[in-house]
Amino acid sequence: MKNSNYIKRFIPYITKYKLLIAFSVIFLLVSTISSMLIPFLSKQAIDKFISTKNIQGLIHISILIGIAIGVLFISKIIQIYMTNLAGQRIMKDLRHILFAHMENLAVGFFSREPSGKIITRVTNDVENMNQLLSSGIVALLGDLSILAFSIGFIFYINPRLAAIVILPMPVAILAAILLGEKMERLYEKVRDFVVKMNIRMQETLSGIILIQIFGAEKRESDKFTEIAYGYRKTFHKAQMTSIILRQTINILSYTSIVLVIIFGGLMTIKGIATIGTIVAFLAYTQRLYGPLRDLSDKFSILQNAISSMKKLSSFLDEKEFISDPENPIEKDIKGDVRLNHVYFSYVKNSPTLIDINLEASHGKKIAIVGFTGAGKSTIANLILRFYDPDSGTVEIDGTDIRKFKKRFIRSFMAIVLQNVFIFKGTVKDNITLGNEKITDEEIIRAAKKIGVHDFIMRLPKGYETEIATEGANISQGERQLISFARALVYKPKILLLDEATAAVDTNTEEIIEKGLKKLMEGRTSIVIAHRLSTIKNADMIYVINKGRIAEKGTHKELLKNKKLYYELYTMQFSQIN
Ligand SMILES: Nc1ncnc2c1ncn2[C@@H]1O[C@H](COP(=O)(O)OP(=O)(O)OP(=O)(O)O)[C@@H](O)[C@H]1O
Ligand SMILES: [Mg+2]
Repeated sequence: MKNSNYIKRFIPYITKYKLLIAFSVIFLLVSTISSMLIPFLSKQAIDKFISTKNIQGLIHISILIGIAIGVLFISKIIQIYMTNLAGQRIMKDLRHILFAHMENLAVGFFSREPSGKIITRVTNDVENMNQLLSSGIVALLGDLSILAFSIGFIFYINPRLAAIVILPMPVAILAAILLGEKMERLYEKVRDFVVKMNIRMQETLSGIILIQIFGAEKRESDKFTEIAYGYRKTFHKAQMTSIILRQTINILSYTSIVLVIIFGGLMTIKGIATIGTIVAFLAYTQRLYGPLRDLSDKFSILQNAISSMKKLSSFLDEKEFISDPENPIEKDIKGDVRLNHVYFSYVKNSPTLIDINLEASHGKKIAIVGFTGAGKSTIANLILRFYDPDSGTVEIDGTDIRKFKKRFIRSFMAIVLQNVFIFKGTVKDNITLGNEKITDEEIIRAAKKIGVHDFIMRLPKGYETEIATEGANISQGERQLISFARALVYKPKILLLDEATAAVDTNTEEIIEKGLKKLMEGRTSIVIAHRLSTIKNADMIYVINKGRIAEKGTHKELLKNKKLYYELYTMQFSQIN
């Protein structure tokens, strides 16, 4: 896609505030004109009043200059205020859209994309767009008007001198373009390094415990240092180029000053120019080079913004949605779950699930067992509709779940994972997940039923106790119980447990088992378990092997079969003893 297409896409965000932006441009022009008038008025003061010793006139023109300064001051402040206001509003709109878009993306997207990259979209890239408006578009208009007015005034005052004085200008423009481009390429690289550093940091932070346990600190920091070194080198080069560009333009602007002195001087001596002309020309040539001096900065802001626009565009174009149907069905759900000849693969041509047929009816408890990587959690992912099957159907109460809204079916389900997700907040927040419709009574009733109420009451502030980030200040078992209470307050029809009873001591296991029993009462339960002792009483056990259902039956039947389940069971049994 061409750059202009990316820009087009974001224009509506800007035109939404067109009035605000139009006013800021008007005030920008007012401030430029008033600043441009000052050298011109100074010339009048020198030539008309100082040289003729006219004090009255000098006072009048001084007042005019004072007014110009006042207008300049006020209009500049209004312009900056309005530009910033528009910029902040546009950023807010964009962030809102990006966040909502992100929240709705399919789970599969997040398993591929590093979260550091996604965060950069919402923070940096949006900020770059803001820069585009405040320091890019508006400032560029300001620069152009300064150029136009400066050139206009000098040609108006003395065209012959003006023609001589602007001779170094084309050279300066050429330098700005050539060096500006080189600089931009370097800054592009610098930005890539920043993204790499962010991703590295983010990955290290999320794996810090592992890194420390396995003594991988040096390896990790070496990788980081390498990126930091590349960043430093490129950044230095980019800065040097920028300094060279600035100095080149400075020298050319001094050349213009010298030309004013020499030729302006000669003309004054000959009587075809005045001292006032020289003074005004000195001021205008200074202004003339200002925009070129900053042009490279503006160029960089523009490039930055375009590269951010591309990234934002491709993020917004990310279509990996699990979409809702146009006419979703809504009906009372009993909670019968059925998988009907389901085939599924995460990666093309490498099937994860093959012809899965599975049934869990209301009030029944089914179990899914199998070796690691067999595809058990994948079945749960499909039931929750984090992914859609390649073929076959997942049905609830006999209806394909794609015919419901995702929200609707998920509202009947609760999932409890081994790795319980606990976030920073109070115990209560962790149970309700911030849903204010759930009353305190319901919370306490759920906690009592699960058997975690007494524990919570022993905490310093009971239900209002703050849990540290990721639940660092409570134990595994306690986290587990809190997650049961969380599942219970949502009164799910279908309960999915993924390895819920692994990794706790026997005492806690008993408490958890009791809690679980309460949790499963009167619901469809699908339990994915490694510890076969916990599923002896299941109504049906499915043994998954390499993505297929290898066996199914009750605990007794399967033991009698002496096949895979028997193998799994005796393996665990011998481990325990
Ligand atoms: N997001 C993903 N992208 C690609 N492949 C995946 C993804 N998630 C899982 N897989 C692969 O799919 C297969 C089944 O994974 P799944 O998580 O369902 O196994 P599991 O039976 O739950 O194993 P465990 O008992 O270890 O939890 C594995 O080979 C796994 O590597
Ligand atoms: Mg799993």
